[in-house]
Amino acid sequence: MSDQVYIFDTTLRDGEQSPGATMNIREKITMARQLEMLGVDIIEAGFPAASQGDFEAVRKIAQSVGDIQVAGLCRALTSDIDRAFEAVKYAKNPRIHTFVATSDIHMKHKFNKEPAEILEMAKKAVRHAVSLTPNVEFSAEDASRSRWDFLAEVVEAVINEGATTINIPDTVGYAQPDEFAKLITYLLETVPNSHKAIFSVHCHNDLGLATANTLAAIKAGARQAEVTLSGIGERAGNAALEEVIMALHTRKDYYDIETAIVTEQLFPACRRLSGTIGQPISPNKAIVGANAFAHESGIHQDGMLKNRQTYEIMTPESIGKKGTSIVLGKHSGRNALGSKLREMGYELNDEQISDVFKAIKVLADKKEHIFDEDVEALVLEEAYRIHD
Ligand code: KIV
Ligand code: ZN
Repeated sequence: MSDQVYIFDTTLRDGEQSPGATMNIREKITMARQLEMLGVDIIEAGFPAASQGDFEAVRKIAQSVGDIQVAGLCRALTSDIDRAFEAVKYAKNPRIHTFVATSDIHMKHKFNKEPAEILEMAKKAVRHAVSLTPNVEFSAEDASRSRWDFLAEVVEAVINEGATTINIPDTVGYAQPDEFAKLITYLLETVPNSHKAIFSVHCHNDLGLATANTLAAIKAGARQAEVTLSGIGERAGNAALEEVIMALHTRKDYYDIETAIVTEQLFPACRRLSGTIGQPISPNKAIVGANAFAHESGIHQDGMLKNRQTYEIMTPESIGKKGTSIVLGKHSGRNALGSKLREMGYELNDEQISDVFKAIKVLADKKEHIFDEDVEALVLEEAYRIHD
């Protein structure tokens, strides 16, 4: 039987930290419902100690969703943890997500603390969180730049305190996929009580590797992925939920992993997010961009018309999109035009198709996009020419 990877969505927390992606409470509740429909396992609803608005949003989301887990982020401070629990406790399944940094750079410059003091902070925080709920996640911020032996020591200690999920973030997107996979393997094999917790990863995209690192970690045994819709998030963003999911789905032969995601909700969810934050999805965005299922070159269009599998590794329908689009442009072939004309209801003979095809090539040199209206105009021109 395949293993399951839990999907922890942090669109409403780390995603909202993306410049210009602020959402009001009503918008966050709507997005939370959308995430529920999508089938994520855990929604990180916000950082309750950050502001009154964040606190209210997390509380309202916790009150309005169903059985889904709702997490609130908090620093490894008693007051932060209490505030987070105050907000998430209304959920049927609340989670406290507490974190502290474990890299030398962060310990020295952010905290001015010795590793032993950080270890104590982490233990104390988890102990306190566990006194409030059994569902506690601990994150070792900047884990990928931490000393592996110290990281392992912290992880072992917080599992002993009762943390049930251990998150290994690549906070600054520094890790490389094979190296990150080795870190996960090292922790799973070295930490004596690692089997008592679910190992999670949280990857940032500073080097464009967030999805690759997440997948490499899953291959190495991580069983929770922290992701955001369309990859929005701090700086260059987080691993994109839709990319991780469709990689696992399309290459099930390679990963042998199940998730609870309803893939047909991927496109609707990303489109809703885009409308909510007022940021368009880039056309070349993997999976959900407008061009992800559009074919312009003649060779590709011809292949697609013969068999979709020639140039499509997944169907648009599988992500909840209407259909593949054959885009007419200067690279398009005659077969694609013939198919487009039939689709538009025109029955032209070979000679007429050739004439329209020539006219389209001339137009495509002047105009980037050939719309259906352009094709229609050229067909009419052709019809008049024949009449004359
Ligand atoms: O990137 C990061 O390290 C985080 C943690 C708080 C999980 O967002
Ligand atoms: Zn993050």
